[in-house]
Amino acid sequence: MRIAWVRSLFLIAVSAFCLSAADDSNWWKHAVIYEIYPRSFGDSNGDGIGDLNGITQHLDYLKELGVDAIWLTPFYPSPQVDFGYDISNYEGIDPQYGTMADFDRLMAEATKRGIRVINDMVLNHTSDQHPWFKESESSRTNPKADWYVWRDGKANGQPPNNWISIFGHSAWQYEASRKQFYYHEFYKQQPDLNWRNQEVRKAMYDTLRFWMKKGVSGFRLDAITMLFEDADLRDEPYAQGTNAYGDRNVNTEFTDNLPEVHGVLKQLHEVTDEFPGRVLIGETYLHTAEDLLKMYGTKNDELQLPMDTQLGFLNKLSAPAFRSMLTDAETKLHGNTPLFVFENHDNKRLIDRYGDGAHNDAIARLLAVLLMTPRDAALIYEGQELGVVDVDPKRVEDVKDPIGRLGWPKEKGRDGERLPMPWNSDTDAGFSTAKTTWLPVSPDYKTVNVAAEDRNPHSLLAFYKTLIRLRKEDEQLRDGEFIGVDVDNPNVISFLRKTSDGKAVLVSLNFSAATQEVKLDLKSAGVSGTHLKKLLASSDDLNPSEVSHMSLPPYGSYVGHVQ
Ligand code: GLC
Ligand code: CA
Repeated sequence: MRIAWVRSLFLIAVSAFCLSAADDSNWWKHAVIYEIYPRSFGDSNGDGIGDLNGITQHLDYLKELGVDAIWLTPFYPSPQVDFGYDISNYEGIDPQYGTMADFDRLMAEATKRGIRVINDMVLNHTSDQHPWFKESESSRTNPKADWYVWRDGKANGQPPNNWISIFGHSAWQYEASRKQFYYHEFYKQQPDLNWRNQEVRKAMYDTLRFWMKKGVSGFRLDAITMLFEDADLRDEPYAQGTNAYGDRNVNTEFTDNLPEVHGVLKQLHEVTDEFPGRVLIGETYLHTAEDLLKMYGTKNDELQLPMDTQLGFLNKLSAPAFRSMLTDAETKLHGNTPLFVFENHDNKRLIDRYGDGAHNDAIARLLAVLLMTPRDAALIYEGQELGVVDVDPKRVEDVKDPIGRLGWPKEKGRDGERLPMPWNSDTDAGFSTAKTTWLPVSPDYKTVNVAAEDRNPHSLLAFYKTLIRLRKEDEQLRDGEFIGVDVDNPNVISFLRKTSDGKAVLVSLNFSAATQEVKLDLKSAGVSGTHLKKLLASSDDLNPSEVSHMSLPPYGSYVGHVQ
């Protein structure tokens, strides 16, 4: 009797432990992940360039904002041609950004605050200064001769085929020492690795283990759909028009999203499974929900969070279009968690893409609610929570991003969305104490900065903080089922997050520049309540009391409990 009692107590303890361990290992399912571009976040030593200690100094801000994890774009040793995405050593720290001790301290301080760290991992290519490439290019017979994608040119000295680099012109670069071409999807200083080579795989998998042992909670996999190219090097079919660099456009059927990538994703999953609770995030610019679904793996054995870039980069304020993407995420991803994202270091800020000039603030709030209230994991990019906008260089001489020099003025590069984070209204926006920062601070930093927005309870920052807190604390927003309502409304998206006890939160989003009257009847959605209790709205005076009579101002957004 007594033994049975002790045993059942033991079993309860074990299952409680497993439950919390299991819960914890799924932390990413509802996470808010904050992207940090280390070069532009905080400069601790006054050289005008952000660094790891600069991130550590601002961890309290991130804790208060409520983020679960930070994704750090590459800080490894690099010639910085592509500002860190050209890596010359995967297991070190670029001296510009600090030391390994600085990284360990950042890791420890983040962990202390309950913030996880996610590293960017560039598997598709290395720097041409990486010792692997140096060896590979030295001859056709060296031990690493096959680690990159080498091919003979055509008879007349022409490249092997018509493939073009995303960053302009032929994707093939001639190398005299081998009398061959190597393939580069990005800059010529970023040669593509040959993922058909098993030694390449092993070396990269060991790198992942190296960082997981240091405590990182996972990886954001750069350009992950591009690991393979057609083995027969078939020419890409030509598409309409030319790109910003003057090349004829080509399709990407032989250079992107080849089926072989799934074999590698499964292996990456196995490697990260050696450590509990790690997550794989994919940079997956895909065009359909069907393609996105494949990235999770048929047995959930590939990526946990491939980015859904369709929703956030729709780039027009259309209720039906956003609704159809939300529906796709609910119905076509087989219950997997979508990872929504509106901004990153490669694209214009959301206000630049969605703003109309007259309602920018309301639009920024509308999209924040759209990001934070569905059933999803959410990515935000530093400064998004402040309403930072792009400021492109005025003159080509000032451009830092090489594509901006190559494509000027059609393509001005990505400097505009990489400006230093504005912390306050001091010199250098509190980012640095240097005379000049690597990119200038934004001209609006006196008003758009962390300190100013912290003081203002009506700021966009305050709005984001409330949203993130509600998303965590409100049971319906956290665990509720997603149910679209009023689904034929051409201007307003409304949905419920409803838990099994029948309780529900209503979200209504006006995607038009006119006031919209919304009349909802939630009975068919299994919700009997007719009254509303506000959790958050885009303006103070937006406070409807009944679901049957809601008046939403232009681009207004509302979140409230149905009672
Ligand atoms: C990804 C990165 C981008 C980089 C490219 C090449 O798209 O986000 O910044 O230039 O990969 O590594
Ligand atoms: Ca610095």
